Amino acid sequence: MRFSDDFIQELKDRNDISEVISEYVTLKRKGRNLFGLCPFHSEKTASFCVYPGNGVFICFGCGAGGDVITFIRLIEKFDYLETIKFLAQRAGVPLPEIEKDDGMYKKKMLVYEINREVARFYHNCLCEKIGKKALDYLLGRGIKMHTIKHFGLGYAPPGGHSAVDYMKEKGYREKDLIIANVGMSSRWGRCYDRFRDRVMFPIIDLRGNVIAFGGRVMEGGQAKYLNTSDTIVFKKSDNIFAVNFAKNKVKDNLILAEGYMDVISLHQAGFENAVATLGTALTDGQAKLMSRFANEVIISYDSDEAGKKATQRAIKILRRGGMSVKVLSIPKGKDPDEFMKAYGKDAGVRFRNLIENSANDVEYRLGIIRSSYNLEKSDEKVKYLDECLKILCELSSPIECEIYAGKLSEEVGVEKKLILLQVDKMKKRSVKIKEKADFRDIQKNISGKMSNLSCVERTSLREIRAEEALLSVIINNQDMVNNISQEVSSDLFMSELNKKIYETVCRLSSEGRNIDVTTISSVGEFSPSETGYITKIMCSYVAAADIKRDLSEYICVIKNENQFRRLNDVENVEDDKIKNYIENLRQVKK
Ligand code: UTP
Ligand code: MN
Repeated sequence: MRFSDDFIQELKDRNDISEVISEYVTLKRKGRNLFGLCPFHSEKTASFCVYPGNGVFICFGCGAGGDVITFIRLIEKFDYLETIKFLAQRAGVPLPEIEKDDGMYKKKMLVYEINREVARFYHNCLCEKIGKKALDYLLGRGIKMHTIKHFGLGYAPPGGHSAVDYMKEKGYREKDLIIANVGMSSRWGRCYDRFRDRVMFPIIDLRGNVIAFGGRVMEGGQAKYLNTSDTIVFKKSDNIFAVNFAKNKVKDNLILAEGYMDVISLHQAGFENAVATLGTALTDGQAKLMSRFANEVIISYDSDEAGKKATQRAIKILRRGGMSVKVLSIPKGKDPDEFMKAYGKDAGVRFRNLIENSANDVEYRLGIIRSSYNLEKSDEKVKYLDECLKILCELSSPIECEIYAGKLSEEVGVEKKLILLQVDKMKKRSVKIKEKADFRDIQKNISGKMSNLSCVERTSLREIRAEEALLSVIINNQDMVNNISQEVSSDLFMSELNKKIYETVCRLSSEGRNIDVTTISSVGEFSPSETGYITKIMCSYVAAADIKRDLSEYICVIKNENQFRRLNDVENVEDDKIKNYIENLRQVKK
């Protein structure tokens, strides 16, 4: 899929980057640029910067960066085409005709359509004679008719061909039903229903598209739930059940439950901010999605051992996603659905009570540790304190740390000052370890293919800087690219990424196309973080008085370092080659 450069330019002109980003991030002006908290990672100080002049943004914290197209792609989790469509719609720019014959876009739209049709089919089955057993099952579990309609619950008939036949009748091809995973291909190439004799739960995304299904058996025997496998519109680990309803009902927090039935019962009882993962452990992606509309998550998992373990894991992930966390525990090991059923009319009030009394994550974790030690015994007290200190170390807010240190101090009879001192010591130690690890990572990155040449690590940094500077000049001075590309072969580049950027820029220039972040990124198929890197390079450009002289210096460094590297590759370097190299270096100095 390729749009003309003119169209992309118009799209960007009509979608002012600071205006678009302001719809997602609170920005404050400092001079010509705008700063705010980065929406792509959690942070407390603003390292996210928008440069209206260049039409780009950069986060100095996580490295995300790009233009308005990259921004929307990242924040809305759209693919390239969805992003273009979104921005075109936003600005009222008509889309060029090409859109209509883009393969992937069309395929996705078709899968959404198939899913919607099939959801309707399942829902109708539930309401007809064939679905009586399933309807009775749901009603028997206390789900009311209006809730069934609201969630679009359904029934997949047994047999094995009903959904497929219905869809084929409507004109859909077997091939596409298989792509949507509502149909499966048998060993003999026949297409049959993926879901048979199950109660069906449609999974709907933020924009209201049916993207997948969960199907529950009514009797034991087989796996309780079967979900749609990952398809071109669905990734299990990136999506959340009921997010389409919850996103508009969130005042400030979300309730995170374990299962479909929990969520449905909670919504029915008036807790419409409840969501659930889809049978996999919570992921960072899901936390990010939640953090788009909630500041706090109340974990409401089953209170059995597995639920407790999952809770401890989820706490870390949600915190990392920048949200505060509370843990609600339901007495007697019940899950929210069983709780609602057990208390009937009172359940709502009781559950609200549980929410209000839910402990925050720190209290919860400290409580779990406390329950495994006998604080009457000194040696256990020491172990208890030791484990608690580890938790305090993870707290980034000094106030929070102070408060829990105070509580601990009272509990174990150790001075608060001492506790805080110890926390401080442990924190410093872990920062040092992290710094060392970071440094090793950076070294690994830089040396890359030169791992056997540790003595030249310093010079390689020099070459990388020169490469970046060269790229920054040519991206900002497109008229120079053609000349440079004849003088500098991309093989001279040491960094693979810089080499690829350079090749892409040269290619665009030879085709007479626009050279900007979007085009480089889409033509070179760069990842979002690579796009951020390109943006940084582009913005690091400072117009110099004599660009040509700067350029020749960068080229000199690149050529020399390359030569030096090749000299190092050979065991016995001939004397005159070294002389040559040194002579070249002298030239640069002059
Ligand atoms: P639960 O077993 O707690 O299911 O699994 P539930 O939602 O409470 O269902 P009921 O009350 O028994 O009817 C929690 C979630 O794990 C996923 C489903 O998303 C389920 O909602 N799961 C569970 C599966 O994907 N496959 C399974 O076989 C079981
Ligand atoms: Mn349940």
